[in-house]
Amino acid sequence: MDALTALHHRVSCALLTEPGPSQAQLETMLKAAARAPDHANLRPWRFLLVEGHARQQMGELMAKAVLADKPETEPAALDKVRRKPLRAPTIVIAVAQMKEHPKVPEIEQIISVGAAANNLIIAAFALGVGAYWRTGSAAYHPVVKEGLGLSDNEIIIGFIYLGTPQVKRKPAPEVCIQDIIEPWGENDIAS
Ligand SMILES: Cc1cc2nc3c(=O)[nH]c(=O)nc-3n(C[C@H](O)[C@H](O)[C@H](O)COP(=O)(O)O)c2cc1C
Repeated sequence: MDALTALHHRVSCALLTEPGPSQAQLETMLKAAARAPDHANLRPWRFLLVEGHARQQMGELMAKAVLADKPETEPAALDKVRRKPLRAPTIVIAVAQMKEHPKVPEIEQIISVGAAANNLIIAAFALGVGAYWRTGSAAYHPVVKEGLGLSDNEIIIGFIYLGTPQVKRKPAPEVCIQDIIEPWGENDIAS
């Protein structure tokens, strides 16, 4: 698939099943992620790969986070939380690793990692791999962050669920370009 086709037609895929992406597909996606624009080449990202039993461990962490905030949570509700990471065979956690830099504020580093995550899901689409970028309260919870081994200077940009689409992917909605762009300033270009 050529780049513009992937960029114009990418859609998320919530219903994912086995198999997850192959090693070669993961490498292709991560290579795309690592080509995101990056002020001062700080490479402010790292990616955690969660597969197999590690998904159960991640589910336990998510449940622990919910319990920390709401100890009275019903067991059924907790089980639902535990099962969240089982929605796909593979999860890539995009982590922003903020560095001190005189010219590159944190926001630019976060944007870079967002761009990296976006590159990753576009590459997944081009490869026929289903992808869904999720966050939710777990992404910002200290219990989850600590359990995943994140440092104080790190934040989760997204849990990217990856796998084989269970259903035919929906077409991308039409975009009305006139809705998203407007002229600004004195346009002295002769028409
Ligand atoms: C930073 C970020 C976090 C997101 N978190 C969630 C989420 O937790 N749950 C969810 O259903 N969608 C979430 N989304 C949106 C989906 O990934 C997806 O983009 C949206 O459902 C629109 O579908 P589309 O990508 O096919 O247009 C998130 C998107 C971004 C960029």
